[in-house]
Amino acid sequence: MKVVAVVNYKGGVGKTTLTANIGADIARLGKRVLMIDLDPQASLTFSFYRPDEWRANLADDRTVKEWFEAWRGESYVPHLSPFITSPPVVNSSISYNGGALGLVASHLSLGDVEMNLAARLGGAQVQRSTRYYFDVYQRIAAGLATLHPQDYDLVLIDCPPNFGVITRTAIAACDHLLIPARPDELSTLGIEHLLSRLHRFTWEYNRIAGLQSDRHPEIKRLDPRILGIVFTMVQYYGGRPIAAMQPHIDLVRNLDVPVFEAMVRESNTYFAGAAGTRLPVALSERIPRSLALELRALVDEFLRRIGAANRGY
Ligand SMILES: Nc1ncnc2c1ncn2[C@@H]1O[C@H](COP(=O)(O)OP(=O)(O)OP(=O)(O)O)[C@@H](O)[C@H]1O
Ligand SMILES: [Mg+2]
Repeated sequence: MKVVAVVNYKGGVGKTTLTANIGADIARLGKRVLMIDLDPQASLTFSFYRPDEWRANLADDRTVKEWFEAWRGESYVPHLSPFITSPPVVNSSISYNGGALGLVASHLSLGDVEMNLAARLGGAQVQRSTRYYFDVYQRIAAGLATLHPQDYDLVLIDCPPNFGVITRTAIAACDHLLIPARPDELSTLGIEHLLSRLHRFTWEYNRIAGLQSDRHPEIKRLDPRILGIVFTMVQYYGGRPIAAMQPHIDLVRNLDVPVFEAMVRESNTYFAGAAGTRLPVALSERIPRSLALELRALVDEFLRRIGAANRGY
């Protein structure tokens, strides 16, 4: 079971859209994929469920908020499986191949959990108290450990656009990080800042793990690999990214960080239009062949980079 967190504290860069499309396309290949929505905006959840379905069937007792709230102290880890739902539209379109796409839905009040976890850590000053450090930052990892490793081939965690406690629990649970970015000035500036925050968090985590190794011998060093930066919402002209975007792409390619060859074009028609269908664009039969090939190349590269078998089409 590989765990990939999709992160960027910059908002609106395509984190959720990538999570939904990569997850659905890999499930179509016959894999078992679990997505976890950690964003109180719940956009990933609403990519697969209508708001009325969410309210009627999930909001009260089957979201990641209730899972977090089921924690009782440090000794009891609530099982994750009762909180995993099977979005119907997408699963009926992929199940012929033995694949499955599960979702732990989010909740619009997930911000309350964020505040409670931050308070447990000792407020904004993390250094003030490390008593509950691993109790908090190990939660997602501990939740995933309640699943059988064979249950899922891949777990994708869609993070909110911030670097708060919940995002960090995802980072502490993942093997790989996927970083979507738009090729514009603010996004490229943000990448260096994001990389330095990631570095600082893993350094702090490993330092505290070392200090508390007598109390927490089970805590492993944190060393998430950056799978790569994926450029999204790329505008093309004559088959190449437009001149205003190319310098930002080049700048990021010169950083010391992996960057996907594959990019996702901007298409309001297909991406914004997919929201009502509860089916990610990658599974739609009504998209142009060039876009389908582009998304397929992205998924192939994703699988290559996490070392899974290629689809061999
Ligand atoms: N390639 C694309 N072309 C056009 N629109 C896109 C594309 N990818 C995503 N969008 C649209 O852009 C908006 C933001 O995308 P998305 O929600 O995936 O970003 P995000 O990084 O998850 O945002 P947030 O930080 O708010 O969670 C959405 O309305 C989505 O439909
Ligand atoms: Mg999002």
